[in-house]
Amino acid sequence: MRQPRLLCSLLLTLVLACQFCLASLAQAAQPSGIVLVAFGTSVDAARSSLQAVEAAYAKAYPGTPLIWAYTSDTIRTKLAREGQKVFSVREALDECARLGIVDVRVQSLHITPGEEFSQLQRLLVRYVTLYPTRFDHVWLGHPLLESSRDLEDVLCAVMDSLPATRTARDAVVLMAHGNSRGPGDLTLACVATAFNTSDPRVFLATVEGANGFAELVPVLEDQHPARVYLQPFMLVAGDHARNDLAGEDSSSWASQLKARGLAVEACLTGLGTLPGIQHIFVRHTAETTDDLVHPAKTF
Ligand code: CO
Repeated sequence: MRQPRLLCSLLLTLVLACQFCLASLAQAAQPSGIVLVAFGTSVDAARSSLQAVEAAYAKAYPGTPLIWAYTSDTIRTKLAREGQKVFSVREALDECARLGIVDVRVQSLHITPGEEFSQLQRLLVRYVTLYPTRFDHVWLGHPLLESSRDLEDVLCAVMDSLPATRTARDAVVLMAHGNSRGPGDLTLACVATAFNTSDPRVFLATVEGANGFAELVPVLEDQHPARVYLQPFMLVAGDHARNDLAGEDSSSWASQLKARGLAVEACLTGLGTLPGIQHIFVRHTAETTDDLVHPAKTF
C-alpha cells in the first residue's frame, strides 16, 4: 500500500511542478513588440537617421521585434512604387497581432506633441476601441519634447553636435518643421528661446507655422556673423533639409542668406543620428504609463 501512495504523491508533485512551469511560461511568454512611428522619408540618404534610431532600440530591447510605421501616405505610396513596403500605423498594429504580440509599445518619433502626434493618439484609441481584446497593453511613448528634462537633454545633444570648426562669431540656424495647426508651434517657440538663451548666436526657425525664417533674417544680419551654420532640427535630414534648407533654389534658407552676402555652411545631420536624442526616445518608451487598453481614467 505504501508504494502506490508514494507514487501518487510523486505524481502530484510532478503535476504541480508542471503547472507551476506552465504558469511561469505563460507569464514569461507575454510577447512584446515595439512600433516605431515616424512621418517617414523617401530620401535614401536620410534613412541613416532612422536606422540609427532602430539600432539604439535594438540595443535597449534585444530580441524584441521592432516594427516601423510611417504616417505619411505620400511617402508610403512612393516607397511601395519603388518596391519597398512600409506599414501604416494600423498595418503595423495588425502585424503585431499576426506575430502574436500582446504587449505593444508604440513610440512616437515626432519632435513635438503637435498635430501629427494628436492624430496618432486618435488613431490608436480608435484601433483599441475596434479591437478591445486584441492586445493586453498598448503603451504610447510620447514625442521627443514633452518635459523640461527633455528640453535640457535636447539642448545638450544638439549643442554637442554643432561643428567643431564653429568660432564665437559664427551663428547657427536650426530648421524645425512647425505646423499652423495644433500645439506644436508653442513647444518650438519655447525651444527656440531655450537655444537662444543658452547661446545668443543659435537660432531656431520653422518651415511652416509661426516661427518663420523671414523674421529671423534681420536679427541674423544685425549680428554680422562670420559664417552661418544651417542644421535641420528634424528626425531625418530629408526633403526639407536638402531642398528648403540647403538647396540651390533661390528660395532656400542657404540661398537667401548667401544673397545677403553671408557665408553659409549646411550640416545635413538628422536628429535621429544623435545618441542623446535616441536616448530620450528610448527613455520615453520605457517610462510611459500611458496604456490605451487600460486608460488611467474612464469618463
Ligand atoms: Co513638411
